[in-house]
Amino acid sequence: MPAKVIVVMSPKGGVGKTTTSVNLATAISELNKKTLLIDANLETPHVAIYYGFVGFKYSLEDVLNERTKIENAIYTGDNPNFHLLPSRVTKRGENKLSHKLIQINAYIEKLKGRYDFIIIDSRPSYDIDFIKLIKDANSLIISNPDITSIIEAKKLKEELEDANLNVLGLVINKVNSRIKDQMTEKETRDLMEIKNVWKIREDNKVYNALKVGIPLVLSSPKSFAAKDIINIAKQLTKI
Ligand SMILES: Nc1ncnc2c1ncn2[C@@H]1O[C@H](COP(=O)(O)OP(=O)(O)O)[C@@H](O)[C@H]1O
Ligand SMILES: [Mg+2]
Repeated sequence: MPAKVIVVMSPKGGVGKTTTSVNLATAISELNKKTLLIDANLETPHVAIYYGFVGFKYSLEDVLNERTKIENAIYTGDNPNFHLLPSRVTKRGENKLSHKLIQINAYIEKLKGRYDFIIIDSRPSYDIDFIKLIKDANSLIISNPDITSIIEAKKLKEELEDANLNVLGLVINKVNSRIKDQMTEKETRDLMEIKNVWKIREDNKVYNALKVGIPLVLSSPKSFAAKDIINIAKQLTKI
C-alpha cells in the first residue's frame, strides 16, 4: 500500500502545527510504521529544531533547487522507522523557493512506496494551493480552543471540502481544563460539523522537549500532551 499522506494545516500560525506534526510523526513511527516527516514550511521551518538537529548538509531547498538527490536530504536517527526531510532556517526573504514547491508532488510520488505515512508540516494560511499539489493528500486541521480559532478552522475545512480534499479531523491543541470558557470538544464538533475531533492538552513539558531537542512523546511520554498525541497517532493508524 502506498503511504498515507497527511498535511498538517491551520489557518493561523502559533496554534501548534509544528508541535503536532513532529510528535505525531514520531509517535506513529514508534507504532512500527515507517514514517517520513517533511518540513514544507519554507518561510519558518522549525521541524529540525524539535529534534535538536542542526548543521545538516542537505535540506528540502537543496532538493527543490536540484542541488542534490532527495535521498541525501532524508535523515534517520535511533528509530529506523523515522525519517526526516528538513528545511533550513534562512534569513527573511532569502528563501524564495515557494514556487518550486510545485515539484514536491513528483518527489512524494517517488517516496510513497517506501513509507506507511508521510506527514507534512505546512505553512499557516488559507492558501490551500499547496495541499492541492499533492495527489491523494489528507489534511489534519489544528486549532486552539477559542471561538475565533475554531471559526477559522471551520472556514478552512469548508474550503478543503469544496476542493474535494479529504479532512481526517480536527485537533484542538492547548486545551486547559482550568480555563472554564474554552470551547468543549462537543461544542467544537457541533460547530465544525466534523466527526473526528481530538484534543491535546496544554502542557509546559512542550517547552522542555524543545529545549532538550527531543520530541515530547519521547522525552516525556507520560505527560498530558504526549498521551493525547500518542492517542491521536493510534487512531490515525486505524483510519
Ligand atoms: N499543547 C501545548 N501546550 C503548551 N504549549 C504548546 C502546545 N502546543 C504548542 N505549544 C507552544 O505554542 C507555540 C506555537 O507552537 P508551534 O507548534 O510552533 O505552532 P505553529 O507551527 O502552528 O506555528 C510554541 O511555543 C509551542 O511550544
Ligand atoms: Mg510551525
